[in-house]
Amino acid sequence: MDDKEFYLDAMKGIVPEQKEVQLQNVFYSFLEIEHLYDSAINVVKTQLNILNNEFNMRFQRNPIHSIESRIKTPQSIIGKLQRKGFAVSPESAREHLQDIAGVRVICCYIDDIYALADLLTVHKDFHLIKTKDYIKNPKPNGYRSFHMILGIQVYSMESTEYYPVEVQIRTIGMDFWASMEHRICYKQERDNKEEIQRELLRYAEILKEIEEGFEGYNEQNQNEKARLSHKTN
Ligand code: GTP
Ligand code: MG
Repeated sequence: MDDKEFYLDAMKGIVPEQKEVQLQNVFYSFLEIEHLYDSAINVVKTQLNILNNEFNMRFQRNPIHSIESRIKTPQSIIGKLQRKGFAVSPESAREHLQDIAGVRVICCYIDDIYALADLLTVHKDFHLIKTKDYIKNPKPNGYRSFHMILGIQVYSMESTEYYPVEVQIRTIGMDFWASMEHRICYKQERDNKEEIQRELLRYAEILKEIEEGFEGYNEQNQNEKARLSHKTN
């Protein structure tokens, strides 16, 4: 089964009332936006790599440990639009869903998270739509991470438009916790849920303490601090 057949087959289950030609149109229209969101992801990743290299050249260290990215599949986009009661179309997806494109940046230190977040917002093709600071205000379950929705300008042959990208910036410790929690219980029902939640909260506190210990080894010096604040102010 090739890619096209795979998607068509999956979409038949989601929108059974559609006829085949209509189904193909929906499929192609979503495929078209996928490539634009993918381009927006690549623009963000390129900018992050530029910043990481510049840090290395100027301050002899890399603020970024690793970068991951993902794009929602057409099935998942359609499913979320239907759950939320919105029209199933690329235009509706662009208007209502801000997490079709996602970039996750893993850093060693908390200062680097805020420095990168600031540096991303000064880029003229990136505009800040929304931030959620779950580091300053952790979720009750213990989740910590810095989230931004950035509108990324994509220059295609036919148009120049902004596409939203959800950027999550977190430390290695925060990522470890979030990955395990996601695996264990995020959006899942379990019998001993309360007990697991208490345990996960305890792990979050332990990891925060370990992270604070590592913060003492942050190589960022006063000179770097001064130059960065000058740059982002
Ligand atoms: P969604 O509708 O789930 O996309 O959430 P939202 O629109 O309320 O946005 P929010 O910024 O709170 O969360 C967006 C993303 O952050 C999620 O899709 C997850 O990747 C991550 N996230 C948020 N809360 C949690 C959590 O409690 N645990 C884990 N593991 N990840 C979380
Ligand atoms: Mg989401």
